Amino acid sequence: MPEKPDFAERYASGNTPWDSGTPSEELLRVLKAGKLTGSTLLDFGCGTGTNAIELARRGFRVTATDIVPQAIQIARDKARGVVTQVDFRVADTLRDDPGGPYDILFDRGVYHCLRTEDLKAFQEFLKRATRTGSWWLSLAGNSKEDTEPGPPVVSEKEIRDELEPLFDIVELREFRFATNKSDFRPLGWSILMRRK
Ligand SMILES: C[S@@+](CC[C@H](N)C(=O)[O-])C[C@H]1O[C@@H](n2cnc3c(N)ncnc32)[C@H](O)[C@@H]1O
Repeated sequence: MPEKPDFAERYASGNTPWDSGTPSEELLRVLKAGKLTGSTLLDFGCGTGTNAIELARRGFRVTATDIVPQAIQIARDKARGVVTQVDFRVADTLRDDPGGPYDILFDRGVYHCLRTEDLKAFQEFLKRATRTGSWWLSLAGNSKEDTEPGPPVVSEKEIRDELEPLFDIVELREFRFATNKSDFRPLGWSILMRRK
């Protein structure tokens, strides 16, 4: 099992390759296809808020959480003067009340971390944060290409075993993550789901 990353230390030292500074192309593709319907949205593990801000700019009522106070502070600073309606909060997805239920959940690079930390607590979070019909778009590392260093990875079988008890998988496709290095684009899964 990969070592649990110390995210506070990584933000403090600037070792955050996932923080591309631009909204996720895969998220934009799904939005363009009109798949994410509803208004309230939770971006859990939002990091420095690039996607949360873009989603708020597009009219979603966004709550965005991260366990690292420094990331939330950067996100709040970035949102100032751009959007007012993002509710940025420091919160632990595995332990704190997520609020909701939300129409939509979004995560980029968080399911693939929390599934190995405490899958039961993560599944409890999913139950509380959604209701029947809620959407969830998860962007996760893909085990077909386990690059080191790279994101934690997950297989299609693991996705189906862990998430299908609660969600219908509407679309499962491969894509490449953008990072803050133009020549580093790890393979990912784009998992679009609807709560049963
Ligand atoms: C790979 S980063 C992705 C950040 C952001 N989603 C993005 O795309 O830039 C994973 C994020 O999850 C956050 N995180 C890890 N464990 C968490 C937890 N238990 N609760 C909330 N956030 C967590 C980390 O602090 C980090 O910002």
